[in-house]
Amino acid sequence: MLRFLLIFSLLFSGLFYSQSKLNLIPFPQKVEYLKGEFVFPEVLILDENLPKQETEYLKKKLKGNFKFQNSGKSESHLMYILLQESANSEQNKEFYTLEISPKQILIKSYTKQGYFLAVQTLIQLFEEFGNNKKIPSLKIEDQPKFSWRGMHLDVCRHFFTVDEVKQYIDYLAMYKLNTFHWHLTDDQGWRIEIKKYPKLTQIGSKRKESMIGAYVDNKFDGKPYGPYFYTQEQIKGVVKYAQDRHITVVPEIEMPGHALAALSAYPELACTKGPFEPATKWGVFDDVFCPKEETFTFLENVLDEVMTLFPSQYIHIGGDECPKTRWKECAHCQDLIRKNNLKDEHGLQSYFIHRIEKYVNSKGRKIIGWDEILEGGLAPNAAVMSWTGVNGGIEAAKSKHFAVMTPGSYCYFDHYQGDPATEPNAFGGFTPLDKVYSYNPIPGELNEEQAQYILGVQANLWTEYILDFKQVQYMIFPRLFALSEVGWGTSEPKNYKEFESRVINEFKVLDRLNVNYAKSIYNVSGKVIPDKNGASYELSTSQNPDGIRYTLDGTEPAMNSQIYQNPIPVSKSMTIKSAYFENRQLKSAVSSQQFTTSKTTGKSISLEQQPSENYSFGGAFTLVDGIVGNVKQLGKTWLGFQGKDVVATIDLGEKTKFSEVYFNTLENKGSWIHLAKSAQIFISDDNKNFKLIKEIGKEEIQNAKGKIKINVGNQSAKYIKVKIENAGIIPAGNPGADSKAWLFVDEIGAL
Ligand code: ACM
Ligand code: ZN
Repeated sequence: MLRFLLIFSLLFSGLFYSQSKLNLIPFPQKVEYLKGEFVFPEVLILDENLPKQETEYLKKKLKGNFKFQNSGKSESHLMYILLQESANSEQNKEFYTLEISPKQILIKSYTKQGYFLAVQTLIQLFEEFGNNKKIPSLKIEDQPKFSWRGMHLDVCRHFFTVDEVKQYIDYLAMYKLNTFHWHLTDDQGWRIEIKKYPKLTQIGSKRKESMIGAYVDNKFDGKPYGPYFYTQEQIKGVVKYAQDRHITVVPEIEMPGHALAALSAYPELACTKGPFEPATKWGVFDDVFCPKEETFTFLENVLDEVMTLFPSQYIHIGGDECPKTRWKECAHCQDLIRKNNLKDEHGLQSYFIHRIEKYVNSKGRKIIGWDEILEGGLAPNAAVMSWTGVNGGIEAAKSKHFAVMTPGSYCYFDHYQGDPATEPNAFGGFTPLDKVYSYNPIPGELNEEQAQYILGVQANLWTEYILDFKQVQYMIFPRLFALSEVGWGTSEPKNYKEFESRVINEFKVLDRLNVNYAKSIYNVSGKVIPDKNGASYELSTSQNPDGIRYTLDGTEPAMNSQIYQNPIPVSKSMTIKSAYFENRQLKSAVSSQQFTTSKTTGKSISLEQQPSENYSFGGAFTLVDGIVGNVKQLGKTWLGFQGKDVVATIDLGEKTKFSEVYFNTLENKGSWIHLAKSAQIFISDDNKNFKLIKEIGKEEIQNAKGKIKINVGNQSAKYIKVKIENAGIIPAGNPGADSKAWLFVDEIGAL
């Protein structure tokens, strides 16, 4: 410590220069710019006490920049000082400092993990300044805000090789994420060798065929898939590889739902006889583990092997999307509910998770599960992974349970990140880079003490629509950069543009590593804004706005197309095509937006109940933005309401004549989306007294296949209120029976 002070006191001149930010992702907590610079030496001397393993990693990454020598006589050193931990330190075990001065690079940390994080920062500095062969003198003091900074990978819907999984882990390491959540079992495949139950991989690791294309198309490829799984030896290799990079691997074994692959191998663990087959389509399936003694013995034996392979503190036991259909009709399940005085099947889900938790705790580990493990009461020591929104995390934290935040609308990287028309087929949803970057993992509802229970943040990559590793790369980059900075705690959503410029610089690194990534941030994005004539379409791009060109006649934008200057009035039904040009070259994909306007377009609208967070896209205005919902873009153009009715009131601004009201609703029973039960149209001139002018029932809605056009006769009113009734509880015989149905609605128009 003393030596450090002597050497550096001269250099602490407190000189700051306010150039553009260093190109570091995640950006550190504190950067101080100093005088002078570290000129790349021919030989970098590595001090004797550098942590070995982490330094080997550094040498591999920096080879080509210079030669290395293990101590000896030279001017330029890489040095390391292990700090003593003090009980009242504000700093966590991932804390580090990195000081660059003309003759030395000095890293200090409490742990090898801290050292490894400093090494990542150093590598990024070498990336940025490599061409100039000198790095400005500076001092970085850094540590993450959150201890759980995770990425998940689903290897069940599509399988990725050990090599690919290792590359994935490398990406996490490069951007200072520290948790890899490995989703190893699901309906479509069991991917981990369990010695005691060989049929899990013999039978459960392959399927007859796979769904292809959009879910609504219901098409299959006819090609057998698998057997694909990881042997225990391979898993040990991956765990070691991750450990070397200070990344914890959290395995997930799904229960009680998402169990079809396991049940195909061991049908005796289900409520009914079977036989079962690993699923060939995506979705949620009714056949789940039956909570019999035999099942618990099986799961405990599986978990024994899992816990031997994975040293993580947490074991993920799934817990999501478990339909109660079979349990309702199963004598054993009903008996168990009675004997244990459980309220219902949700109580049985809680009983299931409690038992598994007890077992995992008895082995000195903890469970974490998707937020449905809150159903019927949370197990005493369980942590919650909040995905259906943020409420699971809030409820957990308020009851002093740890939570990891991974709400779909910000953290699901299987969603589209640009206009779906310009992107490979994806699950749905719309989660562009700026949306991820805007996420704050601490819900506003929590006080400071409760906030301590938020362990951190994670993004999930479900792979139904992700066929190969190139596409994995495409879906995670550049969104992983945003996640990284959110988890580190240095994201500043109001400075998104600055972040975006670092992202664009970082693309060079991905290019050099031959890593695929989405270029959607170059795309022109559009936003409908209300104006006095109805609505206008505002175009923007992350780059120079003068580079946007557009057409209104359906042709592709070219260099001689109209230059965008002001929002384009949407006055009739039209298609706006736009693209971004730089140096006379087309740089982006062409964005195309079709409009279908009506008397409601751009008008003020209010909803009595808000849509579910994951399907709330542009809020109520989505329903009058002149963009009609496309079945293939669930999260983008539709609003989704689970168990709730839609009650929308549109203010037409003045008394307006109309004779037809229209709206759309969807049906996709496999995803629990049901058509509306009924609809009512009301009118008013004072927004107080409403008169019912028309009502339609289920039959009319079904006959119209969800595209509802209601003739209301000649009307004149200032306000239209549309009430669309949710199907309610999903009836028996359907996927998700007994759960609340989803109602998806878009574009309420009047002609
Ligand atoms: C999930 O997305 N079913 C956790
Ligand atoms: Zn049963």
